[in-house]
Amino acid sequence: MPWNYSEKTKQLFLDAVQGKPGTHLGEVKDADGVGEHGSIVCGDALKFTFRVKKAENPLDDVIVEARYLTFGCTSAIAASEALCCIVEQEHLTPPQALSISNDDIVRFLDGLPAQKIHCSVMGAEALQAAVFDWAARRGVTQEQLATANPAATHVSAKQDEGRIVCKCFAITEPYLRRKIKELDLHTCDEVTSALKAGGMCGLCRNAPGGIQDILNDIWGVQPAAKPSTDAPSAPADAASAAPSPFQFAKQVEKVIAETARPLLQADGGDVEVVDIKDHLVYVTLKGHCASCPGASMTLQHLIEGSLRKAIASDIRVIPV
Ligand code: FES
Repeated sequence: MPWNYSEKTKQLFLDAVQGKPGTHLGEVKDADGVGEHGSIVCGDALKFTFRVKKAENPLDDVIVEARYLTFGCTSAIAASEALCCIVEQEHLTPPQALSISNDDIVRFLDGLPAQKIHCSVMGAEALQAAVFDWAARRGVTQEQLATANPAATHVSAKQDEGRIVCKCFAITEPYLRRKIKELDLHTCDEVTSALKAGGMCGLCRNAPGGIQDILNDIWGVQPAAKPSTDAPSAPADAASAAPSPFQFAKQVEKVIAETARPLLQADGGDVEVVDIKDHLVYVTLKGHCASCPGASMTLQHLIEGSLRKAIASDIRVIPV
């Protein structure tokens, strides 16, 4: 997939994988703070470690060294590198570091493709986890953290535990609720881009208690469009314009052929539609794409987005 990365993202990635001096790939030995986010089986994982220059008052500790071990794509590694650069350059205390957001990482990278925003979120989350780990080691309480930086008021080490909403990425309801508000996410596609939730099998998107229900609960249910008496309804989802199963399958093939397939083939991969049941489209990724869990998630998301835009908003794409 030819992602449109900024020059800075590409350079940071290349410098990191070549181990150029000043880059941060690795692990701080005997770290003062360790934080992890993501999971290798889900395609992206980041272990962030830092060392502080200790002060008499732990709240005055200053982060002097940061490192990461990242399993993921170009943007995941570049975002991890950006995170370490920001943390070291700013000479922050750990409580101050809690103010670093995924937006700061995206800005440092001169932007990220929308479908890769989750890489920056992963960095901010791992940093947060590392700060809480440092606080536990240094005997700093949640209240002291919140006093030192009000940003800590809204996060805590345990707050994200709870019911799993997205089984594919092991994402809980408390985490989803927190990030949906923090990142101002309003649609399932936005949630998937930022958090990956809903980006694999898609079953958690519209299931009872799933992502759409949580969005509705947070932002309020969008009122259904009032049927117009003097204008025809939109053709894509209208029952009167509903295509036959054969026509629907042809539409799906056409959209995939014009959108996803050329990109996949340019990258040594392909996609095959193996079955269609109602608006569930079962696809198999082939070639290079078949063995990459991260690509599988992203491509499924892209294919689904294209089909929803062109044909019907309730289409779900399921990799098999
Ligand atoms: S359960 Fe969320 S993507 Fe599969």
